[in-house]
Amino acid sequence: METKMDVLQNSSTKIVIRNGLLDELYSHIEDLKPHKIAIITDTSLAKTWLPKVKRSLGSLGEQSKVIIVRKGEKSKTLSNYRNVIEKLISSGFTRGSLLIALGGGSVCDLTGFVASTYMRGMSLVFIPTTLLAQVDASIGGKNGIDYVGKNMLGTIYHPKIVVIDPEVLSTLSTAEYLNGLAEVVKTAIISNEGFFDLLENNVDALLLRKKEILETVIQKCINIKKAIVEQDPTEKGLRMVLNLGHTIGHAVEKTANYNIKHGFAVSIGMIAEARIATEVLGFQEDNLLRLGSLLDKLGLPTKISLDPRTVLESMKMDKKFWYGKPKLALPKKIGEMEIVEVPFEVISKCMKSYVCQ
Ligand SMILES: NC(=O)c1ccc[n+]([C@@H]2O[C@H](COP(=O)([O-])OP(=O)(O)OC[C@H]3O[C@@H](n4cnc5c(N)ncnc54)[C@H](O)[C@@H]3O)[C@@H](O)[C@H]2O)c1
Ligand SMILES: [Zn+2]
Repeated sequence: METKMDVLQNSSTKIVIRNGLLDELYSHIEDLKPHKIAIITDTSLAKTWLPKVKRSLGSLGEQSKVIIVRKGEKSKTLSNYRNVIEKLISSGFTRGSLLIALGGGSVCDLTGFVASTYMRGMSLVFIPTTLLAQVDASIGGKNGIDYVGKNMLGTIYHPKIVVIDPEVLSTLSTAEYLNGLAEVVKTAIISNEGFFDLLENNVDALLLRKKEILETVIQKCINIKKAIVEQDPTEKGLRMVLNLGHTIGHAVEKTANYNIKHGFAVSIGMIAEARIATEVLGFQEDNLLRLGSLLDKLGLPTKISLDPRTVLESMKMDKKFWYGKPKLALPKKIGEMEIVEVPFEVISKCMKSYVCQ
């Protein structure tokens, strides 16, 4: 599948999703006519997929500069940002040069921030290599690095091309893979029941990472996120539906001192918020059971042993809620979302009775 996302007037991102795409990078990148190329990647991907990427870039690959950063969240630091910038300066990179991010959301976030700030902006290509980055982090233009708090410094800046090859997911650890699957389930709930049915009917194929089902599922996720981002490019409102599972999920992550993967916390948050939706929006019990069963079968958690009061306290500290009741994006049914103010007491009851066990 090839699609275009209109991000700003006169600019758009080309998104290409296909198994085997990593073998045909030259034709996509050549069109950008870059004056120089730097590939930013992490220590793990430098060993797994970088050699193939360089080969596939042909003559462009031979001339590319490779900058390797630490893997995971540790790459999103000010000192890493400075290191990358200094390497670009000393190698004579200009506004006409191209940065290619080869990695998960961490590498994409760092590279996007570098690309948007270096000489007021250079060309950017994402080759996302985690499921989370393929369905979420590489689409929407948000980037950033951590400073004092997570993502404290960042911009909105869109890549010219996003190259998604589901085959790279074959080397991902189980935990990282499930991390992305939670966002896939979220996308199905917020968008349409047919997509949710597809996931239910393909649990085994998904767990086996069959490339055909992955290609289909990733395409669906991208189309849905793309449509939402296009309607709300500056994050004024509609994008809030993408937060399903994230309000409670973030509080869980914080209470667990970030010793839980984001997707796992979102899974717990999603079932908790769906349960709240049964109370405040009439979301059907049947669908709540279907969601719980799908998460279970995929190996995603729906409960956690934390003190519910601490989780709630951490939610109250969220600056979004300083001026009133929490507003949650909740499903009315599968595929239909509403933004609803929910009293803390309702959230508290749900946490005590179902989530924190
Ligand atoms: N910009 C956005 O809109 C957005 C959205 C969601 C998340 N994020 C950010 O994304 C980051 C998390 O990204 P992530 O979950 O993709 O993880 P990650 O980039 O931190 O990578 C996790 C681990 O997986 C490894 N890895 C990546 N691809 C691999 C592959 N194909 N095979 C084997 N190992 C591989 C990495 O080396 C790393 O060790 C967070 O910093 C988060 O803030 C950004
Ligand atoms: Zn998320």
